[in-house]
Amino acid sequence: MAFDKLDKSALPQHIAIIMDGNGRWAKKRGLPRTAGHYKGADNVRNIAHYCYDTGIKVLTLYAFSTENWKRPKAEVDALFKLFKEKLQDYRALMGNRDCVVRFIGDKAPISEDIRESMLSIEEYSSQFAHTGYTFNFAINYGSRDEIVKSVKEIATLCREGKLNIEDIDEKTVSDHLYTCGLPDPDLMIRPSGEQRISNFLLWQSAYTEFYYSDVLWPDFTPKMLEKAIIEYQKRNRRFGGV
Ligand code: FPP
Repeated sequence: MAFDKLDKSALPQHIAIIMDGNGRWAKKRGLPRTAGHYKGADNVRNIAHYCYDTGIKVLTLYAFSTENWKRPKAEVDALFKLFKEKLQDYRALMGNRDCVVRFIGDKAPISEDIRESMLSIEEYSSQFAHTGYTFNFAINYGSRDEIVKSVKEIATLCREGKLNIEDIDEKTVSDHLYTCGLPDPDLMIRPSGEQRISNFLLWQSAYTEFYYSDVLWPDFTPKMLEKAIIEYQKRNRRFGGV
């Protein structure tokens, strides 16, 4: 049955969003690209709060990829300055919504002060596991890098005699990804008119429904997200069956 209104009984459990279009948003207004990133960061809270209040249990937002280091140093520095400001503490990031926060990606190359903020938010938010909500921020995240990490960890377990090669299955690989223990994304959204996955959740998105929008991320409103969810609810997911 198709719904033109949100069906609260059939919500996606996990929504993943590629927050794209900040640069173009700024350019259209004659502003520096950084202004677009700041506007995009403001939108994180609108969307996160909408998801929380609607009952979306897992949200994963792509903020910085392992390939984004290729950008001009000034832009990378500005982005990390922005992350530093937004990741001051749990409440500065999430407001009054209680959920587990995870920073998925390789933290090692990130400066110590930001790394410490991330760890402290993760630690503080672990008390909210009972809520069933987990919001992931992908920072220095690359899906291929994540899969390599998983393979290395599994190989190490085999070498140490803690795991038999014959016992490796899909769950073993999933269990060594940053998203371990979370459901795969049901819906992946990319605003800004681009239609590609850009090294985001490659393993996890095997049966994810994709939704593209021409609207740039800073202008992507909760109402537009709701429209995407309604469209998702009209799709017939078969997971390879009939
Ligand atoms: C891609 O758009 C966007 C980014 C690389 C940065 C996204 C980061 C944020 C929205 C801030 C996140 C904040 C927190 C708190 C984690 P683009 O600049 O490549 O856009 P363009 O394609 O128009 O140039």
